[in-house]
Amino acid sequence: MSNAISTESIDVYISTAPGLEAVLLEELKYKWPLHFPQVPPFQLLKLERGGIEVSGDAQALLNCNQLLKTATRILVRFEKFRCRDFPKLFKKAQKIPWNNIVGTQLVHWKISAHQSRLFDSRRLEKTLNDALCKYRKANPAAKKIQEQGAGRECSVYLRILEDELTFSLDSSGNRLHQRAYRQSSHHAPIRENIAAALYFYLSDYKPINKQNLIDPMCGSGTFLFEAASFEAPSLWREFEFDKLPLFNAFQMTSFISESSLIQCYGFDISEKTIAEAEQTNSNFFEQKIRFQVGDLFSSSGRINSSEENIIICNPPYGKRLEKVDFKKALMAIQKKFMPLKIGFIIPYPWAKAKQDIPNSLTVDKFLEFENGGIESTFVVLK
Ligand SMILES: C[S@@+](CC[C@H](N)C(=O)[O-])C[C@H]1O[C@@H](n2cnc3c(N)ncnc32)[C@H](O)[C@@H]1O
Repeated sequence: MSNAISTESIDVYISTAPGLEAVLLEELKYKWPLHFPQVPPFQLLKLERGGIEVSGDAQALLNCNQLLKTATRILVRFEKFRCRDFPKLFKKAQKIPWNNIVGTQLVHWKISAHQSRLFDSRRLEKTLNDALCKYRKANPAAKKIQEQGAGRECSVYLRILEDELTFSLDSSGNRLHQRAYRQSSHHAPIRENIAAALYFYLSDYKPINKQNLIDPMCGSGTFLFEAASFEAPSLWREFEFDKLPLFNAFQMTSFISESSLIQCYGFDISEKTIAEAEQTNSNFFEQKIRFQVGDLFSSSGRINSSEENIIICNPPYGKRLEKVDFKKALMAIQKKFMPLKIGFIIPYPWAKAKQDIPNSLTVDKFLEFENGGIESTFVVLK
């Protein structure tokens, strides 16, 4: 398992925000046949809170770094063994062929341990560093590997569960939610991969192209930018896997960007916020999204109501911006846009969130997820 991977299948763990793992799986199911029609289907090994473990074609899974909009990271499994004591860990860890995995890079250990004899992360880190040091003294890296590693750092994840140790290498580098269009914002933008996941959930896992997508409290416009670029690969950014010996046999493929047909409209009460969203719109989206100043609770900011509208909304909830009354906001949305459906974030678990749903709307489905550490619900209403 621990030799440099070539063309065969690999096991990876793809992480996302807790609660969104089923949506991430749907995105992978949707995009895999579109982008890798010649490659056998991937296999789902495990779905758990915060991520999915899958096995499949190595090149395709590494390329998922630029295709999956709902993911946070892709970690590649490279070693697994059972261990219950430190001397054995030291012995086993110095036998891992590190030159073929991380080369000479400085390793940051990311350790999590549950229900296991080995759980002291400081001692684990020290043991691993000692083992790596001993390995490196005994196995000087080839010049090419040394050059590749010069001045670089990487992350190795060690997960210990019931005395089973799994080592993984981060193939993503910076977290995958980072997009070219994001500028610093003083408002409360939703994280991009969460916005992408909620949009895909709202659209029943088929990108919207016939109806209008409207965000009546759009802030920096994240939902709309994510919807408009859901099919487009992140070609602009770097990934870690270009730089690590474990992945030397692979290259990032340049995918063709699919153009989206979605019609997006964003309204916000703040002129400054709309001006900033417009700036992003012209810098990165050829002004495809229509932004306008508008107060949800007044008649400003309407669109032609003869069209079919789908609403997505992340209302202010009182942390950084003054909270709105969710029930009133939902009733205003219903009256103003007469939507086919509404996707709405309520910053509570469902048991509490459901009290904010007006009687005039029917719950189609809901998803509980963690939004910046807050247990929240995304509810779809009809
Ligand atoms: C939580 S933020 C939305 C963040 C957005 N999803 C993003 O990613 O940037 C809520 C937004 O609602 C706007 N807002 C507050 N009251 C409003 C109203 N009555 N009508 C329209 N927008 C309103 C605020 O200006 C703020 O930008």
